Amino acid sequence: MQLQLSTWPEIESYLAISKALVIPIGSTEQHGPTGLIGTDALCPELIARAAGDEAGFLVAPTFDVGVAQHHMQFPGTITLRPSTMIAAIRDWADSLIHHGFRRLYWLNGHGGNIATINAAFAEVYHEKSFAAGRPTAYCMMRNWWELPGVAETCKALFSAEEGNHATPSEISLTRYLLPKTYKVAPLSPPVAASGPIHDAEDFKRRFPDGRIGSDPSRASSAAGGQIYTVAVKGLIAEFKAFEAT
Ligand code: NI
Repeated sequence: MQLQLSTWPEIESYLAISKALVIPIGSTEQHGPTGLIGTDALCPELIARAAGDEAGFLVAPTFDVGVAQHHMQFPGTITLRPSTMIAAIRDWADSLIHHGFRRLYWLNGHGGNIATINAAFAEVYHEKSFAAGRPTAYCMMRNWWELPGVAETCKALFSAEEGNHATPSEISLTRYLLPKTYKVAPLSPPVAASGPIHDAEDFKRRFPDGRIGSDPSRASSAAGGQIYTVAVKGLIAEFKAFEAT
């Protein structure tokens, strides 16, 4: 069930049976010469929608731009400042809490968002702690690659070639789910360099084609299907447990 494809009476009915929903959250940033710029938003979005359809829970629109300043030397990347993102997450959470949602499960697709999402949660809780009578609502964040069983699956498939950015796992997922978008391009060296992340200029110098430590040529539709199945199952289990807290 998707929020955008629902009517307000349908949401009112949903709230009578559940106060929980999933919000996919990602980024719009380069993913190397072969990865889609939307990879980090598409992966959590498509996993969440499949899980929501299977288990009957509600999925919000995707919060699809995140903290990606380090990718700004690559055309197409859009970034938020952490402060802007914190303010926007607070407004999303306030809106949903206003309507009666009490368990907000954020399924994240971008490592660079983690600190900012957690800071936004601290802001939401700060409001509650200083305002008697404000409803109690809990937020949780899970990175899709940390859903139960997913990390083991990705490691078994790609081991050291997985890397940290433009990984064969995420590119397998988009290849499986959106086969018409699959791209091929030369990758040299096959496994990209690893290293720390600072500003955009430093990133481009360390990681000239945008990958970090990965060999996305290992990506395959079959691997994507395997990861997807495990992730959808893991999300349903974890969402149900969170909904019951
Ligand atoms: Ni990514």
